Amino acid sequence: MSAQPQTNRVLSGMRPTGQLHLGNYHGALRNWVELQYKYPCFFFVADWHALTTGYEDTSQLARHTEEMLIDWLAAGLNPGVATLFVQSQVPEHAELHLLLSMITPLSWLERVPTYKDQQAELAEKDLATYGFLGYPLLQSADILLYRPGYVPVGEDQVAHVEITREIARRFNHLYGREAGFEDKAERAIGELGARNSALYRELRKKFQEQGDEASLERARALVQGNARITVADRERLLGYLEGGSLNILPEPQVLLTPTPKLLGLDGRKMSKSYGNTIGLREDPDTVAKKLRTMQTDPARVRRTDPGDPQNCPVWSMHEVYSDESTRAWAAAGCRSASIGCLECKKPLIEAVVTEIGGMRERAREYENNPDLLRGIVSEGNERAREVAHETLTEVRRAMHLRGE
Ligand code: TRP
Ligand code: SF4
Repeated sequence: MSAQPQTNRVLSGMRPTGQLHLGNYHGALRNWVELQYKYPCFFFVADWHALTTGYEDTSQLARHTEEMLIDWLAAGLNPGVATLFVQSQVPEHAELHLLLSMITPLSWLERVPTYKDQQAELAEKDLATYGFLGYPLLQSADILLYRPGYVPVGEDQVAHVEITREIARRFNHLYGREAGFEDKAERAIGELGARNSALYRELRKKFQEQGDEASLERARALVQGNARITVADRERLLGYLEGGSLNILPEPQVLLTPTPKLLGLDGRKMSKSYGNTIGLREDPDTVAKKLRTMQTDPARVRRTDPGDPQNCPVWSMHEVYSDESTRAWAAAGCRSASIGCLECKKPLIEAVVTEIGGMRERAREYENNPDLLRGIVSEGNERAREVAHETLTEVRRAMHLRGE
């Protein structure tokens, strides 16, 4: 069955690891900044996820969460257009996680590749916990709670979105059934108004008979844009397009982040655990110094030895920061030994320092005014809770969990 997204909402999260670095910026954040002007975006700090591996010492959690929010704002996330919030402040995530845990086979969680990989990688920690096994399920709850169309993540998170889709499918299959569904859906078509009813039928037929995805998209937009029908009818009509059950938790799609390979100062992947990073808010002198001593092609022992940019970590920075002519100049100069490494790094240092300078500037406002940050986040938490509440109401109804 097709699994096209139903809304254009975007949702993503990050674990609070402390101050972000250029690798985080170019690997995720820069993409979020662009997305926020194209789609309604929800971005959150996954502080509960940090607990799955860091449960022993939680003393830095609040500080890391705050640091990360400031980094986000410094990088250009705009709280006027995007919703920024903190997972633990929206307890609905926990409720959906619990409900989904009832229908999730253990084997699905055990076979998520990150489960065994991470346990091996973090062998010094005891990760034989319930919470750690449930990591991808908590992530599924994070996602499905907002019923997004797209989830921008890197390659390493694709498996988690994949399991999210499987869980959504299982949920809809189990709880999206309804006595007399077809009759109710047919009646709901009538509610769309004469013109739209006919259009809905035509588009549904085109999709069902010819598998025409564009018709499915148009039919969904038609249903979504119709203010006259009830929420229940909307779900019926969306579900009826593809089959015989309500589509309570739509399957989201991965929006794979194009990631330039920005290497760390020592030539390995830029990562906090390697201590080879450049922080988003580091002071310009330190940044310049770090870049001046950044590793280069080991073949260039002397200034007169030619080098190969492909063997040089600095080159990965040129690919991100330099325009074509600068890159051509650097590559030719390197191969012919007509420029030295310091000379090669000069335009780069300028570009990075300028970029970081802008971020520092933007961050300062928040650093000096904790109330400002608090206000932004509590507003974001509120907005997130509204959406989360709506989803949970429908989830509860579908599962016959009624308070009265
Ligand atoms: N697991 C993600 C990471 O480590 C963080 C995360 C938690 C997330 N919940 C999410 C990402 C929901 C996207 C959607 O990067
Ligand atoms: Fe690297 Fe530039 Fe030195 Fe070549 S000249 S080794 S690309 S820093």
